[in-house]
Amino acid sequence: MTARTAPQAAADKPEDLRRRVEARLKSRIANLEQISPEEALNLLQELHIHQVELEMQNEQLRQTQAELETALTRYTDLYDFAPVAYLTLDERGWVLEANLTAARLLGTERSRLVQQSLAPFIRPEDIKQFRDHLVTVVQDRPVPPLELNLLGKDGAEVAVQLDSLLVPDAAGHPQVRTSLIDLTDRRRAEESLAASYEKLRSALSGTVQALSATVETRDPYTSGHQRRVAHLVGAISLEMGFSQEQCDGMQALGLLHDIGKIAVPAEILSKPGKLSEIEFNLIKAHPQAGYDILKDIELPWPIAQPVLQHHERLDGSGYPQGLTGPDIALEARLLTVADVVEAMASHRPYRPALGIEQALAEISRNRGVLYDPEVVDVCVKLFTGKSFQFD
Ligand SMILES: [Fe+2]
Repeated sequence: MTARTAPQAAADKPEDLRRRVEARLKSRIANLEQISPEEALNLLQELHIHQVELEMQNEQLRQTQAELETALTRYTDLYDFAPVAYLTLDERGWVLEANLTAARLLGTERSRLVQQSLAPFIRPEDIKQFRDHLVTVVQDRPVPPLELNLLGKDGAEVAVQLDSLLVPDAAGHPQVRTSLIDLTDRRRAEESLAASYEKLRSALSGTVQALSATVETRDPYTSGHQRRVAHLVGAISLEMGFSQEQCDGMQALGLLHDIGKIAVPAEILSKPGKLSEIEFNLIKAHPQAGYDILKDIELPWPIAQPVLQHHERLDGSGYPQGLTGPDIALEARLLTVADVVEAMASHRPYRPALGIEQALAEISRNRGVLYDPEVVDVCVKLFTGKSFQFD
């Protein structure tokens, strides 16, 4: 008789081992009277060894079972107390199982949720899209997460994001694992963020208007010029397909484009007669002064560069850098047209108002020469076809 090695013993299932030992015993016991004392001793020893092996295997089984129970408890805790609600549904939308978070989210006991349809827990208006979602999942087709409203405790609506995965059961029947993420906190945070953003926007708008008004108090003859330019440049931007955010930026640009005039002596700004060359050169410094004021301010829109370039002309005849064509930023090209039209249409210290017709004639005559042709077309169309008027 050879001793069985430990790996063999470990590989045996307890019932196999027992069967084998019993068979051997039976064959020996059948010829018991022929067994010598020495053989009987060996047989007893073998039985003892098998008994020890069985006990070792039992102990291993007990340990494995204990580990499995610990893992199951850990899994159940994680499942039950997960921040996400989990449900397993059948293809009709009945709840097969649910974690505690799901029961809590729906304001009920788990026992009242399981083996019930989920439909009564969904806001009636949202049931159709839930059913459509479920059908798509059961058909194993891709479906995006769904946002809907559940009815929680006392019928209170709870906004959730519902996501599902098809996982057939052991018999191949469709089962749907569904997760529900409570969107209440996210919605609250989004609302709070939107309110903060609106507050900031309003503060920024107030600041821009205050800055704009500051320049105009020093230049009463052009009072309202920046506001009217802002109005026109905003309308041109909108017509050219700019986003609302970009249009807001263009309006701010209009309101601030002459901010550099704060560096020009007030007597020159309001001088009614012709300016000397020195005086005109001082005026011509205002785009650079405006750029210097704005360049380090963190604004949501690019303003400093168009302010610097708003007296540039396509053919290079403008100032301060004499830039040409595409070297001039699009925002500056828009602003230039609005600036020229408003300035010509309004009264100036050195001349009466020329009127809108003359202003449109000027930009049309120099379309593609001084002014961006597309911007000119849009501006003319605004006045002639869309009844645009300054405030
Ligand atoms: Fe200007």
